[in-house]
Amino acid sequence: MVKNFSIAMALMLAVVLQVSAQTVAPIDSDPALVPQPASLKVNTGQYLITESTRIGYAGKDSQVVAMAEGLAAYIKAKSGLQLTVMPTVQPLYNMIFIGIGQVPDSLGREGYTLSADKAQVTIKAKAAAGLFYGTQTLYQLIKLEVQKKLPMMSIPLVQISDKPRFEWRGSMLDCGRIFYSVDFIKKYLDYMAMHKLNTFHWHLTEDHGWRIESKKYPLLNEISSWRAGTQFDHSPDRQINPTPHGGYYTQDQIREIVRYAAERYITIVPEVEMPGHTLAVLAAYPELSCTGGPFKMPVQWGIQDDIYCAGNEQTFEFLEGILTEVVELFPGKIIHIGGDEAPKKRWKECPKCQARIQADSLKDEHELQSYFIKRIEKFLQTKDRSIIGWDEILEGGLAPNAAVMSWRGIQGGIEAARQKHPVVMTPTDFMYFDYYQGAPYLEPVAIGGMLTLEKVYSYEPVPAELSAAERKFIKGVQANIWSEFIHTPDKVEYMAFPRLAAMAELAWTPATRKNWEQFIKRMETQYKRYDEAGINYSRAAKNVWQQVELDSLSNTAMIRLQTQSYQPEIRYTTDGNEPTKSSTLYTEPFPLSLPGTVKAVVFEGNKPVGKISIQTVLAPALGERF
Ligand code: ACM
Ligand code: ZN
Repeated sequence: MVKNFSIAMALMLAVVLQVSAQTVAPIDSDPALVPQPASLKVNTGQYLITESTRIGYAGKDSQVVAMAEGLAAYIKAKSGLQLTVMPTVQPLYNMIFIGIGQVPDSLGREGYTLSADKAQVTIKAKAAAGLFYGTQTLYQLIKLEVQKKLPMMSIPLVQISDKPRFEWRGSMLDCGRIFYSVDFIKKYLDYMAMHKLNTFHWHLTEDHGWRIESKKYPLLNEISSWRAGTQFDHSPDRQINPTPHGGYYTQDQIREIVRYAAERYITIVPEVEMPGHTLAVLAAYPELSCTGGPFKMPVQWGIQDDIYCAGNEQTFEFLEGILTEVVELFPGKIIHIGGDEAPKKRWKECPKCQARIQADSLKDEHELQSYFIKRIEKFLQTKDRSIIGWDEILEGGLAPNAAVMSWRGIQGGIEAARQKHPVVMTPTDFMYFDYYQGAPYLEPVAIGGMLTLEKVYSYEPVPAELSAAERKFIKGVQANIWSEFIHTPDKVEYMAFPRLAAMAELAWTPATRKNWEQFIKRMETQYKRYDEAGINYSRAAKNVWQQVELDSLSNTAMIRLQTQSYQPEIRYTTDGNEPTKSSTLYTEPFPLSLPGTVKAVVFEGNKPVGKISIQTVLAPALGERF
């Protein structure tokens, strides 16, 4: 009996030890937060979430209650622990507290403090937005390796004081060229929230599709939202998938998405393009063009000559009607009016446009575009809205209160800041996530360019040319996903991640705390978070780049292998075979006899990740050797 009892005890102990071994993870000095907080101190030890932990909240905002309940639901889903959620005026013992409270004013409404000691975890902020970001940090702190239906979770002991660097932390998705489902938009908003991004620039109208339900202009939905097919490659004949493509978001769906975003402290900035990128509208309402049409929606990508007629009053009546519907759907204070890539060819030949130029003593078609945008700005002001536009809106004179999105490099941003207008930086070279993120032969088709994770991370949004006073006009930074060659939600995720993590860190973290080596170390944990969230992120940062330095005299090449990931285990071959776990481990540059081929890949455990990089180096021609 006694013997059996001790066996039972031993078994129980073994179970407890096993649970402990899995739940009480070793302390990692770096909790791998992405984006990195403004100030972070890590202490030894951890707070254990057990069945007696309570979640307390303080604040009248129903969203504070929702955050507490959301956290309880998350902990239940991951560990099975059913924690009590309760209102409280202050943090109590053995409690995770989320509350509006005293924090330094300097943290602003998006800042927060998070403190974890052995007795309690406390998140405080001045406003619900700050609490939301504090809870996003908390989700990252809860140890991943213990989120396996086990009755304990842990949080490393930390002191965090955090706030964003920029007020505009944006991500744009082109739903004009490709219509993505409501469910996917919501997922995308979840992913944005996870990265503490707060502005979803929703590109809703294009030459290739109109995506907003209009009660006033029903042909926008009948005609402008559907096209006959879709170009899918860069071949000379630009091949078409002949399946009709289209759809639009109903007004109810838009309201639902706006609400969903607001619950994640994300403002939606809808983009209604003008005067260019409007062929879809002209296909339905050709009278708004200079020539009168008729028009068909294009199935191939490219800039269209036919744009709204600026000399036609009907154009402005139409836009005022549409914008009235749009502002009723989107409560955010800013409307994006496009303004980019509007060829002036038709305006030059159009009697109505020319008459407007004459009547208003405008110098040229650029001033006519400026007239157009100013008129729309004025109308939107009557609706208590301001405008933002692509940097072309600088041409011909900026509308008095317009903000500028600098995309053709940084010059537009510099100029707008000097004119004391708010600026969002989104230059193609650093912020266009439709560019390749790795060697094109290993990547799915992209629009072109080359924008690696490291290059995104290297970007500094505030141009050095600006004075201290001018710098204040740089309101933030944004990454853009254009859909010409991104046709599925999976591919959106592939192109967005992990680059959006780098962009989020530029947007949130003080520049002085930027550190590439440390970022890629933290990203190893972030990739696990992506796995857990089911995000189809790219492994291009784990593909091997081969640098070749020819040595003509010895007929060899020095091969240097690199990745954009932390301490990669690179294995390679030079015999033409695919690398395996037993292939040579790369430790330093090595000589390759020419001609020769190197195949290299990163291993994690016993498995290769990413794609095998292949480089064949030919012997230099005889003449080149001497
Ligand atoms: C743009 O890329 N046309 C703004
Ligand atoms: Zn015209």
